[in-house]
Amino acid sequence: MTEPLPERPGDFDALLTYVRDARGFDFTGYKKPSLARRIDKRLQARRAPGYDEYRALLEQDPDEFVELFNTILINVTSFFRDEFAWDYLREVVVPRLLVARDDEQLRLWSTGCATGEEAFSLSIVLAEALGVDDFKRRVKIYATDVDDDALRFGRHATYSPKQIKPVPEELREKYFAREDHSFAFRGDLRRAVIFGRHDLIQDPPISRIDLLVSRNTLMYFTPEVQSRVLANFHFALREDGYLFLGKSEALTAKTNLFKPVDLKRRVFAKVPQRAERKAFARDERATLLTPPVEAVVRDAGLDVVSVAFIAIDREGNLALANLQARMQFGLSQRDLGRPIQDLEISFRPVELRSRIEQAYMERHPVSLRDVAWRAAEETRYLDVQVSPLNSGTGELVGAGITFTDVTRYRRLQIALQEARRDAETAGEELQATVEELETTNEELQATNEELETTNEELQATNEELETMNEELESTNEELETMNDELHQRSMELNNTNDFLEAILASLPAAIVVDRALRVQAWNAGARELWGLTAEETVGQHFMNLDIGLPVDKLHAPLRGVLGDHGSRDIVRLDATNRRGRAVTTRVELAPLQADGSTDGVILMMETEDAQ
Ligand SMILES: C[S@@+](CC[C@H](N)C(=O)[O-])C[C@H]1O[C@@H](n2cnc3c(N)ncnc32)[C@H](O)[C@@H]1O
Repeated sequence: MTEPLPERPGDFDALLTYVRDARGFDFTGYKKPSLARRIDKRLQARRAPGYDEYRALLEQDPDEFVELFNTILINVTSFFRDEFAWDYLREVVVPRLLVARDDEQLRLWSTGCATGEEAFSLSIVLAEALGVDDFKRRVKIYATDVDDDALRFGRHATYSPKQIKPVPEELREKYFAREDHSFAFRGDLRRAVIFGRHDLIQDPPISRIDLLVSRNTLMYFTPEVQSRVLANFHFALREDGYLFLGKSEALTAKTNLFKPVDLKRRVFAKVPQRAERKAFARDERATLLTPPVEAVVRDAGLDVVSVAFIAIDREGNLALANLQARMQFGLSQRDLGRPIQDLEISFRPVELRSRIEQAYMERHPVSLRDVAWRAAEETRYLDVQVSPLNSGTGELVGAGITFTDVTRYRRLQIALQEARRDAETAGEELQATVEELETTNEELQATNEELETTNEELQATNEELETMNEELESTNEELETMNDELHQRSMELNNTNDFLEAILASLPAAIVVDRALRVQAWNAGARELWGLTAEETVGQHFMNLDIGLPVDKLHAPLRGVLGDHGSRDIVRLDATNRRGRAVTTRVELAPLQADGSTDGVILMMETEDAQ
């Protein structure tokens, strides 16, 4: 059936060819009416009157390609799109698959995955059926599209509340983490989903797939291209694998490669190999489009290798890239045959051309270890080996390059180094603590010794104090004895004094002076006679006393008694007594003798009535 041509003037097919050759996007296999509608939008936006002008515009302004692809590639999608079909997948298809696979690996492929909702819906269904641990261990989901922007979004795995809405609440809780105003798919499960650029029209299929989900993408292609892609899908699936198409996509009757499991839900099963051969034989187009068996086997074999591998021919063109390399570095079938220097892989993750030259010159592999490669959100580490490739005759035919992902080992290595460093730090800290303890111990020992010395000194001081105390006690006792004695003496003295006083009192007026003529005693008779008390006279010089007696006249007799050892004297003097009466006073001077010497003079006075 010929499709109606677009209405705009100009060569539409020439425009598509130009886009294919310039950018590798082959839209020639897309249904023309809808494709033209979308391209026309761009013509309108850029005010291009026809396809030729628009083509010229693309040549001048390469940024327009981005706008064009964004307009053609419709990324409309959602989680669990067409819910009833997903229910069937969950309730019938997946349980059947799990029974058939026992404990084997499960490989799923979401083609035309757009921004990844379909791939993560598959993750959730599988994780619910298997449990999270088994899911992580057994499941791999390839999520592919031609649209790099959409893939970038998918790798980020973060969705707005509006996008997440179709996910039931309990699954949202379980499989997404809230980040501000968005929801991020669980990081540990995200790793099972591998995003990669894959063009359904140009690139060879991924092989050994258990469940292939291609929804709402085939419908953009012409029936011829659809048959070709379906043939690839048939090849991609394992014998008992399933194909899950979109609501408005039906298989063309001619293929016979699939049989419906549930036509309404668009679930199909692969027709097994024997039938496949027959179908291929009947379907000429499919046969024509299928590459030779050896090449298919070789490509399929290379594709299951988990290490990324590319081969460069002697002219420096990309000759081969296995699935892992295509997925990892965004290569596609259309890159085959292109000079390596035109491809990003020639300088990222590592500069390859000089290494290829080196491998050629040395005829020996060149190895690079731990090459850091920033992929999507994380940095991965690759061991890269560039090996010269020789033909059977030993002729150099090109170079083979392997990229082995060693991120896991490197992480382990870093963890090991950190653990070692921690252990070393802990050891050093322990050593420091032991040294500190030793120092502290030594200090304690020194302090202890000091304390012991101090203790000994205290002990000695204590003993000294004890001794002194005892000495004081004995002195005290002595003093007490002396005190007692003194008391005794004092009492005796008092008695003697009393006795002397009594003697003195019983005498008439008596006065005692010392050798310096100072009054030592003054008895009551003297007070009666002269009117002065003992308090007023004792200690005074006798010659200075103002009494009724002319004391100066006694000076010589006093000196005489004092000087003349043991002599006595009697003097009579006229005097006036205390009453003012003139009296004759008889004064007898006797020496005061002690131990044979004269210490003073005793003056005894009696009045005789004046004549
Ligand atoms: C409408 S979306 C479908 C998304 C998802 N499968 C779904 O059903 O919700 C179609 C997707 O197919 C992609 N696509 C278009 N041509 C393609 C091609 N040749 N190879 C791979 N993907 C293609 C587009 O980029 C777009 O993301």
